[in-house]
Amino acid sequence: MINILNERNHLNLNLSNEELIVEIGKIKKKRNAIILAHYYQEAEIQDIADFVGDSLQLSQQAAKTQADVIVFAGVVFMAETAKILCPEKTVLIPDLDAGCSLADSCNETDFKEFLNKYPNHTVISYVNTSAKIKALTDIVCTSSNALGIVNSLDKNEKIIFAPDRNLGNYIKSITGRDMVIWDGACHVHDRFSLEKIIKIKNENIGAKIIAHPECDKKILILADYIGSTSGLLNFVQKDDAKSYIVCTESGILHQMKLTMPQKVFIPAPPNDSTCACNDCQYMKLISLKKIYISLKYNRFEINLDENIRAKAELPIRRMLSISENLGFK
Ligand code: 13P
Ligand code: SF4
Repeated sequence: MINILNERNHLNLNLSNEELIVEIGKIKKKRNAIILAHYYQEAEIQDIADFVGDSLQLSQQAAKTQADVIVFAGVVFMAETAKILCPEKTVLIPDLDAGCSLADSCNETDFKEFLNKYPNHTVISYVNTSAKIKALTDIVCTSSNALGIVNSLDKNEKIIFAPDRNLGNYIKSITGRDMVIWDGACHVHDRFSLEKIIKIKNENIGAKIIAHPECDKKILILADYIGSTSGLLNFVQKDDAKSYIVCTESGILHQMKLTMPQKVFIPAPPNDSTCACNDCQYMKLISLKKIYISLKYNRFEINLDENIRAKAELPIRRMLSISENLGFK
């Protein structure tokens, strides 16, 4: 540890972003590494990533990459998912504190009790869960394929859906399926202000409201379009409106502005602050500097208990296979 710290201190950490990008490129080449970044990452990280995508696309990329090292510019459950799929690879998360309030809302002990209350149910868990929860799951899903996965099951199948109550209730309302839903939520998506969104809508005639399904029902009812991060991005590229009020984490605005520079994207504000946009503090823990240190010193390597990993792999593989049949490639 002392060596690492000394070496870190010795490192010229005053490197500019441009210099960091050059150094990251050199180490990536040397180590045959790739950077996978989620849409909620800072713009400068999205710009240097080998692949930017939603949770499903990131797991698909992890499953098929030929790289030896994967640096996950995202949160821990995403890096864990990559490690579950590629146990032989080195998977790195540049900051171990990059957690997820939604994943944290579902712990193993309480989840086991919940499962015991509802025997003979198919367990569908959102990818935003720990490896231990995935190991107790039949099929993993993400926001882009949750509807397809529920619909792929027999009509009479009883379903446990965890941990996001907003996504679960949204899917239940569309499908009318027999679903018991875990009472968890993402603090970012659950805190959008209805009043502030209505005010922005009134001030921007013609603006469409687009929302991630992790948002509360009161926001989803207002939305002109509901979809995953990639769904939202695809929608603004095909739709004919000129402006959008975007109800998800503000990082997605970077790709929206890049691909549709002529359109206006207004981040939806949260109810508990004066801030105009809604950031996930966990996603925003990742920086260029931390990616550089991560690649240089293997900080921080994801390691999983093999028994848990192997059990967690099955429901993720089922998700990937159903998704392929549904056309998510
Ligand atoms: P998607 O990118 O799959 O829509 O998920 C959003 C999210 O909550 C990531 O933490
Ligand atoms: Fe988790 Fe919400 Fe952050 Fe996504 S935005 S990583 S669901 S806390």
